[in-house]
Amino acid sequence: MEVERVQAISKLSMSINTIPYEFIRSENEQPAITTVHGEILEVPTIDLNDPDEEKLVGLIVKAGSEWGLFQIVNHGIPSEVINNLQKVGKEFFELPHEEKEVYAKPQGSKTVEGYGTQLQRELEGKKGWVDHLFHRIWPPSVINYRFWPMNPPSYRDANEQYTIYLRKVADKLFKCLSLGLGLEEDAMKASIGGDDIEYLLKINCYPPCPRPDLVLRVVAHTDMSALTLLVPNEVPGLQVSRDGRWYDVKYIPNALVIHIGDQIEIFSNGNYKAVLHRSTVNKDTTRMSWPVFLEPPSDQVIGPHPKFTGEGTPAKYKSKKYGEYMYCKLNKIPQ
Ligand code: OGA
Ligand code: NI
Repeated sequence: MEVERVQAISKLSMSINTIPYEFIRSENEQPAITTVHGEILEVPTIDLNDPDEEKLVGLIVKAGSEWGLFQIVNHGIPSEVINNLQKVGKEFFELPHEEKEVYAKPQGSKTVEGYGTQLQRELEGKKGWVDHLFHRIWPPSVINYRFWPMNPPSYRDANEQYTIYLRKVADKLFKCLSLGLGLEEDAMKASIGGDDIEYLLKINCYPPCPRPDLVLRVVAHTDMSALTLLVPNEVPGLQVSRDGRWYDVKYIPNALVIHIGDQIEIFSNGNYKAVLHRSTVNKDTTRMSWPVFLEPPSDQVIGPHPKFTGEGTPAKYKSKKYGEYMYCKLNKIPQ
């Protein structure tokens, strides 16, 4: 069965200036109605190269517990490396339909890897205005090059370069987040899976939409991974929820957007919060983003660290294998 891609739906919708019914969100979700406008409340931006480590840890702890999302600058990834990652991803999505379909996620496949259109079963059968490509980029033992585009030819090199730098940033974040909880610097990373932590890259492609007031690209969710490191393009759209209201995340060239995911919330027994976020669409420009989800191996058990549970402070979350957690989340089964 041929799946309809949002890129094709976008072309048609733009020409007839209307969108299919299944993309129209209910009123309590429609971006035009639910976004806070004109209020300057900014997501924290953190200089990852700050030589004052204590201060850096303090800022990360505050952002991770109050927002669950922050942007980092001076992270050490050269802008050329980020630009190349963006360039080859954009080129892939500009390929003719048939060339992209070569990488389509096989039907019935157990992994998320591949080119596709909808990941989660949504309530009420609503759809998000987005196509994506998923493939793992680290460690080498879990990489399946079948899902890495051969075209453009520099796709592989650009992604490998990015991975080298990204791993250093991820290690530094794990260290700061761990120290911020009063743990040894390697405690969090070790509990999430250590060197077996899987780096899953997703490229989101959100084509233009004639009715941006009515649709969402990615519906409100928290990431089920431990930590997400995201590169956006220059088209804004990411929104974060705080105290029940939606705020735009401003675009800072070359910054990375860091999301605390469910597994760190669980590990910290709620000291850090996984952030509820979503993405809105644009009338005439294509937004793209490159999140990398840092995931525990599927049989790694994640639960609250003993330091945060005990008399008076019960565990707020169950300990379970990441694979089981993922299955429940994707199928909307209570954890
Ligand atoms: C996601 C996501 C937001 C964005 O893919 O999980 O939240 O900015 N994307 O594209
Ligand atoms: Ni997300």
